[in-house]
Amino acid sequence: MGWIVVMNTRLNHMTKNSDPIMKKTKTFLPLLLSFFVLAMFTFQACGGSEDESAISEDIEMELYPDSDLTPFQQVHGIGPITERIEISDDIDQEMVMRGRVIYEQKCEMCHQLDNRRIGPSLGDIVDRRSPEFVMNFILNPGEMVRNHPVGQDLLAEHFTEMQYQNLSIEEARAIYEFLRDYHAGE
Ligand code: HEC
Repeated sequence: MGWIVVMNTRLNHMTKNSDPIMKKTKTFLPLLLSFFVLAMFTFQACGGSEDESAISEDIEMELYPDSDLTPFQQVHGIGPITERIEISDDIDQEMVMRGRVIYEQKCEMCHQLDNRRIGPSLGDIVDRRSPEFVMNFILNPGEMVRNHPVGQDLLAEHFTEMQYQNLSIEEARAIYEFLRDYHAGE
């Protein structure tokens, strides 16, 4: 608020011996300014809060202002996962084992954990994407590469379309747990 005080002193100086209208402005203006500054702070604090709560705190993803997708879809992908899921800090080893089996059968031919193959490397995916994004990509790859800006870029980069694998939400979740465990152990 330092500059309001400065402004106030300057006004005091300017309005010495001046007419009553100017005097009125003198008291009113700082008040108006304070209100304006306060409004700015409030606006910043609450701006888009509803959307932000749906978005992630731990990964950085771009938002696309011109997109038709909802902010949730922009960050977490398009597919059957439409709200944030709870992921506990502890890794569920039983789920990891199930995820590993599916990964080896259905993903490994195109994805490696430490290198790009036909598709991107998945070893660090937990740093790059939210769990919901990864699951939506697994469950709905066709729409992700057609209608999601990240998917469109990935397709342009890799030239091959990821196959639809007909997996359940639980299976996709288990693969995510496997990828999370791999990343934690790296
Ligand atoms: C036929 C090869 C192929 C198979 C099989 C495949 N993928 Fe993909 N995947 C790709 C390609 C290629 C991309 C990049 C997008 C595109 O071009 O379709 C991709 C993209 C992804 C992405 C997004 C990566 C990112 O950087 O955001 C995830 C996540 C993913 N795949 C997970 C899986 C999982 C898990 C499986 C197994 C259930 C799997 N994929 C099976 C080829 C494949």
